[in-house]
Amino acid sequence: MSAGPLQIRRQDGALILTIQREERRNALDLATLQAFGDVFRHHLTSEDRAVVVTGSGTSAFCAGADLKERRGMSLDQVRAQLLRYRSDLGWLSTCPIPTVAAINGAALGGGLELALLCDLRVAAATATFALPETSLGIIPAAGGTQYLPRIVGASKARELILLGTRIEAAEALRIGLIHRVATAEVVEDALRWLEPVTRGAPLAQRAALRALRAAERLDLDAGLEFERGCYEACLTSEDRVEALAAFAEKRPPVFKGR
Ligand code: COA
Repeated sequence: MSAGPLQIRRQDGALILTIQREERRNALDLATLQAFGDVFRHHLTSEDRAVVVTGSGTSAFCAGADLKERRGMSLDQVRAQLLRYRSDLGWLSTCPIPTVAAINGAALGGGLELALLCDLRVAAATATFALPETSLGIIPAAGGTQYLPRIVGASKARELILLGTRIEAAEALRIGLIHRVATAEVVEDALRWLEPVTRGAPLAQRAALRALRAAERLDLDAGLEFERGCYEACLTSEDRVEALAAFAEKRPPVFKGR
């Protein structure tokens, strides 16, 4: 299925979104942003267990904002587009199921920010990463200055944003920017790696995600209280009873998401 510049397909329990603008290195124009928003509004279902975002081709995951489109925009249009990043892409950071960036090539500017919105990042060994905005007279303002320090720490984020340094996958792995360097085609690799998520207990996956995200905005006492509430949501589930029965019977559990 295609929603304009975004191909939408399902495989192994994951909803896979592929930006189809290889000729512009999967840069984000208005239509692509809208297509991302439409996925959340119209395509995501309760059957989906993870969302995987990737780009077409091997050169770029996403080269950031479409700079050719940007050049013809008024200031108000640029401002409106910036808000669209939050409304049309922001759901990736609050989605009830895990979101994963399968980074097939360069992730630059808004392209890296797109990956930062995801819970998990897997990259091809040849992928590169940079936030070069300050060299273009702007700043990363699709969440880059806020998400990057939370992911790699304040010190490394200052270096990457102020110097615009471009780094390779091995270095990205070392600093914790990505979780894994793929050993096969990046989406296939991501799907295999995600099996514990896509085959696991859905309610527990969602509860864990809620608690983990809360850890980024709550102090410890409030966070522990929030965590208790998330556990409570699992405690009364059929899946928890099934896991205990499966353990006793020495068989794999069959989770139903109830
Ligand atoms: N917006 C619009 N078009 C873009 C683009 C962007 N962000 N990035 C690349 N393109 C276009 C190029 O202009 C070129 O178009 P053309 O054939 O009409 O000249 C086409 O995509 C291919 O780009 P090219 O640089 O030849 O591809 P490459 O495979 O050698 O390199 C990149 C790919 C992504 C490394 C390189 O294009 C790049 O560095 N792009 C700039 C990204 C950037 O600075 N983004 C920050 C935004 S804040």
